[in-house]
Amino acid sequence: MDMNNRQLQSQESYYEFKQFRNNTGYNIAHKYSVGGYRSNFKTQSINLANNIKNKLKRTDQAQSLRQRAKSNDDFNNLSKKAVKCIAIASGKGGVGKTLISVNLALSLSTKYKKKVLLVDADLGLANADIVLGIEPKYSMQDCIFKGKPLSEVVIKTEHGLDLIAVSSGNKEMVSLGAARLEMFLKELINFAANYDIILFDCAAGIDNNVTSFIATAPQTIIVASTEPTSIMDVYALNKLIYRDNLSQNVGLIVNMADDKEHGYRVAKTLSSVSKKHLNVQVHLHGVISRSEAVHEAVCKRQPFYFSCKDQSIIEDIDNIAKDIILSHKSETKLHSLNTDKFIDGIIKG
Ligand SMILES: Nc1ncnc2c1ncn2[C@@H]1O[C@H](COP(=O)(O)OP(=O)(O)OP(=O)(O)O)[C@@H](O)[C@H]1O
Ligand SMILES: [Mg+2]
Repeated sequence: MDMNNRQLQSQESYYEFKQFRNNTGYNIAHKYSVGGYRSNFKTQSINLANNIKNKLKRTDQAQSLRQRAKSNDDFNNLSKKAVKCIAIASGKGGVGKTLISVNLALSLSTKYKKKVLLVDADLGLANADIVLGIEPKYSMQDCIFKGKPLSEVVIKTEHGLDLIAVSSGNKEMVSLGAARLEMFLKELINFAANYDIILFDCAAGIDNNVTSFIATAPQTIIVASTEPTSIMDVYALNKLIYRDNLSQNVGLIVNMADDKEHGYRVAKTLSSVSKKHLNVQVHLHGVISRSEAVHEAVCKRQPFYFSCKDQSIIEDIDNIAKDIILSHKSETKLHSLNTDKFIDGIIKG
């Protein structure tokens, strides 16, 4: 993990160069190679490897990543400890994933005394730190690009909740690539032994970063609003998750409901459509009503779990937290959080 960015690039490029050579036959690679692959860390082969990067088949990439992961001793020494690991996702943006992730994490850590790690998995437009009202010194970028250990990157908040933040608006993070994502996951798995619950606050949509986090977590909770577009997107995401076997356990939170009845109606519709067309049950974790007090807390850069005047919203979050604690679906042994599923997510994204 002490590899710096350049070393990682060299290793990644050399590795891809070799893979290309194996896939296409030595002659083609040799023809284009100025220094030959023996000068593997030299510029020519790095450039060559970068040029041919797009020619590699995605399935080959998956296979070789798996081989590398399996040969890594870190994975053989993983703790047998059980953790709950949940990806909070949605098809449509702006439905409340980040607010729910942050406040759910706070409920789990303060009311239910769990050791919680919140990972900002929105690699492009991260904002969990803003919702928590903190200014991170380090972020996931420092781990991925500068080799800083997660123990130094993680932010210990005053509420007992730990956060891995991402600095927002960074193009490099959006197109991280499989090798870097995999490297981060390895680090995360080793680090996860310190926690009872890990939450991934995913980006909206279904790009390969999102599907990677969904594939890694044993459980996904999809957040829906009551708008028809959100309902359609929940169904589409659910379909993708089951079709590509990214997760066996998908739950639902309906947010911003006009009232509880409205929320339950939406959940019922989604549940029956999923049963009918996908033959899967979607467990409803809870309904959260739309509240002006939530919006006010966001504007004050305070987590609504502590500052919201609307007690019913806090009760909603506590009930969802309790439901998660009582459910064993999201539980996994740490050694089961392996790169195979993560890589599947990348490939299927
Ligand atoms: N229960 C609620 N009541 C009122 N407003 C809400 C509620 N939930 C979310 N909001 C509003 O929705 C906005 C978006 O929430 P949030 O950032 O959590 O969505 P998101 O799904 O994470 O968005 P993105 O897809 O961009 O990551 C909040 O800033 C807040 O104003
Ligand atoms: Mg968000």
